[in-house]
Amino acid sequence: MTAMLETGTPVDSLSREILDLKKRLNAVILAHNYQIPEIQDVADFVGDSLGLSQQAARTDADVIVFCGVHFMAETAKILNPSKVVLLPDLDAGCSLEESCPAPKLKALQDTNPNFYTIAYINCSAEVKALCDVICTSGNAAKIVRHAPKDRDILFVPDENLGAWVTEQTGRPMTLWKGNCYVHVEWTHNAITRIRREHPDAPLIAHPECTKAVRMLADEVCSTEKMVTWCRSHPSPAIIVATEAGMLHRLQKECPGKTFIPAPTENCRCNECRFMKMNTLEKLLACMQNLSPRLELPQHILDRARAPIERMLEISALPEDNAG
Ligand code: 13P
Ligand code: SF4
Repeated sequence: MTAMLETGTPVDSLSREILDLKKRLNAVILAHNYQIPEIQDVADFVGDSLGLSQQAARTDADVIVFCGVHFMAETAKILNPSKVVLLPDLDAGCSLEESCPAPKLKALQDTNPNFYTIAYINCSAEVKALCDVICTSGNAAKIVRHAPKDRDILFVPDENLGAWVTEQTGRPMTLWKGNCYVHVEWTHNAITRIRREHPDAPLIAHPECTKAVRMLADEVCSTEKMVTWCRSHPSPAIIVATEAGMLHRLQKECPGKTFIPAPTENCRCNECRFMKMNTLEKLLACMQNLSPRLELPQHILDRARAPIERMLEISALPEDNAG
């Protein structure tokens, strides 16, 4: 049976139009692992923030269609200032980005000239422009290991990711008090209950989860590392504590396995409302109109580029090459 969207349009015909237009525009479609299944299925590349930045840095397409949230598309624009970068819904934000306005960060930086600021990629371009280096959940520990030993690290804006990195590296850091409103919904109690129901299933969790949840996990990692971990783990069933879109990607990559979404305490809050703002209809419309586009002031483009490039360079180094 043909799958239909809520509007009554068949998914197949919309997807075909998107793929035709992609060829005509010489466009590349980059999609985050949390995007709805229909978008993941038309994308050229589906991955985590690090993989998407690496793809954006190396693409020779004329148009980058970014199916993710605003800060991700901004990163693609900073790496490709002369290209057209489209985002199906410009309002697709992030609670971490909201928690850290650039003027507030600047005020804190001014209190200590020895701060070395590492920003999780989930922040605005203005914040990136104030930082020494960017990291993602996939390379945060490595980036921190490469930070100069004589500097005081200021880590923004996710306090949970920051705390996890300190556990990995032993490096104390001043942490900004931001969090992901989705990942803090998982609780120790709810996870303990699901683990009792499936005693043989390992648990994977994103580092944006609280410590109370991370300590119950068999593996804490970025969304892309979840894919490689699940592929190589022998268990036929795995409990997943991250945004619901991940289940589609995991199911596609590991077709023989069962993925159990970890329940939150009181509600079904495992969907990021920002990630879910992008729809197949909006994706087609933005490609037809070449809008909405990401535009940034020249001085932000110039200043935010170096910390992102530093991240990409460190990421490409062999694992044990910490300076
Ligand atoms: P990843 O880079 O691990 O995909 O995480 C991005 C994100 O927004 C998690 O909430
Ligand atoms: Fe931001 Fe959380 Fe949504 Fe990721 S899941 S984009 S961190 S609000």
